[in-house]
Amino acid sequence: DQDGRVTELMSQMSVEDKVGQMTQITLSMLMKDNQLNIEELKNAIINKKVGSILNVNGTPLSIEEWHELLTSIQDIATKETTLKIPVLYGIDAIHGTTYTQGSTLFPHNIGMGATRNPDLVKQSAKITALETRASGIRWNFDPALGIARQPLWSRYEEMYGEATVLSTVLGSAAITAYEEDGLDQVTAVASCMKHFLGYSVPLSGKDRTPAYIPDTQLREIFLPPFEAAVQSGTSTVMINSGEINGVPVHASKYYLTDILRGELGFEGLAVTDWEDIIRLHGRHHVAATPKEAVKIAINAGIDMSMVPVDYSFFDYLVELVNEGEVPMSRIDEAVYRILKLKYDLGLFDNAYPEQEAIANFGKASYKDVALNAALESITLLKNEGQTLPLDKNAKVLLMGPAANNHGSLHGSWSYTWQGQDESQFADETLTLKSALEAKIGTGNVTCNTTAVFEDAANTSLDFLKKNAAKSDVIVLAIGEKSYAESPGGIHDLNLEANQIELAKAAYATGKPVVLLIAQGRPRVISPIVEGADAIVNLYRPASQGATATMEILFGDYNPNGVLPFSYPRHAGDILLYDRKHTEEVTEFIPDSYGGGGYNPQWAFGYGLSYTTFEYGDIQLDKKAYAKNETITVAIDITNTGDRDGKLAIDLFVSDLYASVTPSYKKLKKFSKENFKAGETKTVTFTLDGKDLTYINAESQKTLEAGEFTVSIGDKKSTFELK
Ligand code: IFM
Repeated sequence: DQDGRVTELMSQMSVEDKVGQMTQITLSMLMKDNQLNIEELKNAIINKKVGSILNVNGTPLSIEEWHELLTSIQDIATKETTLKIPVLYGIDAIHGTTYTQGSTLFPHNIGMGATRNPDLVKQSAKITALETRASGIRWNFDPALGIARQPLWSRYEEMYGEATVLSTVLGSAAITAYEEDGLDQVTAVASCMKHFLGYSVPLSGKDRTPAYIPDTQLREIFLPPFEAAVQSGTSTVMINSGEINGVPVHASKYYLTDILRGELGFEGLAVTDWEDIIRLHGRHHVAATPKEAVKIAINAGIDMSMVPVDYSFFDYLVELVNEGEVPMSRIDEAVYRILKLKYDLGLFDNAYPEQEAIANFGKASYKDVALNAALESITLLKNEGQTLPLDKNAKVLLMGPAANNHGSLHGSWSYTWQGQDESQFADETLTLKSALEAKIGTGNVTCNTTAVFEDAANTSLDFLKKNAAKSDVIVLAIGEKSYAESPGGIHDLNLEANQIELAKAAYATGKPVVLLIAQGRPRVISPIVEGADAIVNLYRPASQGATATMEILFGDYNPNGVLPFSYPRHAGDILLYDRKHTEEVTEFIPDSYGGGGYNPQWAFGYGLSYTTFEYGDIQLDKKAYAKNETITVAIDITNTGDRDGKLAIDLFVSDLYASVTPSYKKLKKFSKENFKAGETKTVTFTLDGKDLTYINAESQKTLEAGEFTVSIGDKKSTFELK
């Protein structure tokens, strides 16, 4: 049995052996002139007893190169050390297998949130597991379970959206897909719920800066996805590099042990984020020395240190154990979790890249899943006078900085960390330009291929002037270039002035203008909303995103993505759909300046279709329920238009009165259904007590009797909880 094997192995290990297992170094420490430096590798594994490796920087490798690399590593670990413990290699395959040439990349999570389709998340994650494992890697630092509520933050695109339940349901779907076959199978990888806890809302918007989150919100908004992830069986957790209410999470026994282990019952491995132990000293200033930083983090509950800069972590921790400052029981607990994962992953039986896994790499069918995910995410925000779909015979002028590059469609962690290296995208991965040409023929397309994001002189204006007259329609591809973590933070949510100016100039030509926005977060575009004939939000739709966009533009696919966030109207007005009643228009928040209360550019859940839907009345099976009863909510929905279409259906619950001010509404359930033209379907949801609880002022989950409203589309119904 696994437990017995781990215990037996641990009985042979010295303190040094154990601390080595708790160390994860970056591959770049082992590279010289772009080659693996075998001497350095031996030093790391044999002398420093390093148990885990990852990489972030670097260019994508072929499957063969990955296998060669991992074979060299495991050769040393399993043949040249006394204990023969294999190395655990981890990677960020967060929207597909990041660093392997030819892997399939799926829309970033923010787009997956727009699909409202857990099945697509599951299918995408399954393929990611297969392609990652085929690359020889068995640990994936995914999914990110923060809540997207701070759009200045660089990692917004990695979140599933603004509503907690999106992260809870979609994150769990990913975890299930990664691990359900059993970690020793060539179809699985160990998942990693991250970044525990409260990472996604830095007050300043800058990555890894402080968040201030009251316990009520922490438990109501940020904790549930992690709770669900544990229940879905995630094997590992990565810790938030930032701090909550002045306490760095890496230093907090409250978060890392009391909540994570005590309340959530998580039994897996806890890894730091990048260099985060040493930063308790140099950055957060809660540890007076680097050694104290190690003591605080390990005693708080960290099991593995990601990139301890050099090998000082090893030396400090050994000293701390010998001095009695870190109890041996803490080390044993950490090492048990690490070795247990290595056993579970089958590494002790075969540490080498599995040849049979290669058969799972790069199947043609994976592209269909990436295409479906992109199609179901892309969100139609405006379609004045049915500008869309466009006529396939139209002469199109394609302009804007996102027209002819892959980065803005792919975003972060796309073959390279920042996703900006255009040379790494395979030829068959289309840009908007090549996808448009494939759709309507090169003869119908004029494109400003050299447009760039940083264009202070706005050189595109000349191109527009020269080419507008001979086009029937202008398609303007705007938004953001690719970025990750640092330096992806921004100071201003307004879209850059040169892009606004270009859109206005396009409107001035009198031609119909379609805006396509490739972006990782909602950039404010209010000055150019009115003038546009159609607006389509692409998010980061990735490898099949350009094809999907053209399917929608020319009417071969009926759009059905809906916003996973409230799209801000003003840069200074970050509005959330689950606002409190006091945030609505009142005498204190007048509407006089044209936008009081919750008045985003487009509301959470908004998204247009080429067909129309009508909602019947909401039917509840009863008018009053006991607290332990299930509530069945049914609604008839009709596709009243003349084409088939899918519909994302959001169900919100409002607690009308509560002892802590209730939210205006909360998303509790969602689904995606297909409707034939003219078809009526009954869509049914069930709610139970868990969906009606809130966190009271004493931080406890509470279910209070009273009146509640359920709303779907434009319909509402009220019931009583006794
Ligand atoms: O997993 C990532 C994390 O999300 C951000 N910092 C680096 C880690 C490893 O690449």
